[in-house]
Amino acid sequence: MNILGIESSCDETACAVVRDGREVLSSVVYTQIPLHRPYGGVVPEVASRAHIEKIAGVIAEAQNRFREKEPGGKIDAVAVTYGPGLASSLIVGLNAAKGIASGLGVPLIGVNHIEAHLHTPFLFDSGSPCATPDPEERMPALGLAVSGGHTSWVDMPEYGRYEIIGQTLDDAAGEAFDKAAKLLGLGYPGGPVMDRYAKAYWLGRDPSDAAGLRGVPYPPIKRLPDGLPEFPKGHPRQGSAALSGLDADLCVSFSGLKTALLRYVQKVSGASGAGDSFAEAAAKGALPKEMVPAVVASYQEAIVGAIADRTARALRRRAYRALIVGGGVSLNGRLRVKLAEVAESAGVELMLAAPGNCGDNAAMIAGLAFYRRNIAGDAAMKVDVHPSLEAGDEP
Ligand code: KG4
Ligand code: ZN
Repeated sequence: MNILGIESSCDETACAVVRDGREVLSSVVYTQIPLHRPYGGVVPEVASRAHIEKIAGVIAEAQNRFREKEPGGKIDAVAVTYGPGLASSLIVGLNAAKGIASGLGVPLIGVNHIEAHLHTPFLFDSGSPCATPDPEERMPALGLAVSGGHTSWVDMPEYGRYEIIGQTLDDAAGEAFDKAAKLLGLGYPGGPVMDRYAKAYWLGRDPSDAAGLRGVPYPPIKRLPDGLPEFPKGHPRQGSAALSGLDADLCVSFSGLKTALLRYVQKVSGASGAGDSFAEAAAKGALPKEMVPAVVASYQEAIVGAIADRTARALRRRAYRALIVGGGVSLNGRLRVKLAEVAESAGVELMLAAPGNCGDNAAMIAGLAFYRRNIAGDAAMKVDVHPSLEAGDEP
């Protein structure tokens, strides 16, 4: 079964065709990052306008590549992200998907974006020798979705069933990276550049040598030097109302981290003023250049350490077969090393996506739709966008 998927929940316009849930026949991603960079974050109006401008071309390109691969091949269904995400962006993809599904006379399937990130380790490129396993064979699994908008731990007793057992109470991991990078004047998006600076620190290399650092593995971690800011461990207080009934041992809170960084930058740069906002502090001046890599390495250790700790705790709660990780932050080199250690000591298989599938893409939407034909056909034609959807929610 060939499913054409469409994704437009945030700042990527994407379309893909996937066979039987795992084999990627074509995948096209247009990223709007350069459009949002001047603003230091995603601007919803800019995003929806760019989706409108690009979506037809992206869909046409994905269909062309599919036809080249499969001359005469048919699309059997159309899948689309209906949430979570920016309402004005989601609606562009949803309307395009409805148009294509009705034009082709095939069912439309609504897909949850977070659940789709947890499908990415099961995708493989058509023609590649390494096909991936049937997801059902890896159940029960613990899912970890770490992206710019989400950080959640999800219990997956069988494929297609999701229950959130832990999450961030405030900022997502990617957001914590992005906000810190903004404060340090490292640009947008922050995750990749923070990853590079931290790696350069541990290797004792120049952080600006991006090409030289690429592909070099993270070395073993030494002790951090004294005098760095005390970054909180992100462990919420047990019993806090913000937990909404979840166990604090499986939740994180990252907002204190950026405040600790802000106070430190203010102290060192003399840009003080207890009430300064992040943007003000950033504009007033940052740390001396030579201090940045060590501070970034320490900040990253706090985020990665918190995620690894909660993951290890979750893995102790139940006998899982696999740890399934998805989302842009799963590209982080240090997180990958730590999660491999955690998975090994828990005796579960670590399943990470290919780097090209970690960020937002449509192959994950088309792929998961094969397993989640929950909302299809006429009912799907009535589906609206659900900007605040969580994993496991049924709209
Ligand atoms: O999954 P994604 O592409 O979009 C969302 O659904 O949010 O994730 C984007 C996030 C951004 O916050 C970006 O800074 C972060 O993923 N990211 C990383 C790395 N690469 C991307 N964070 C840490 N280390 C990285 N190497
Ligand atoms: Zn995403």
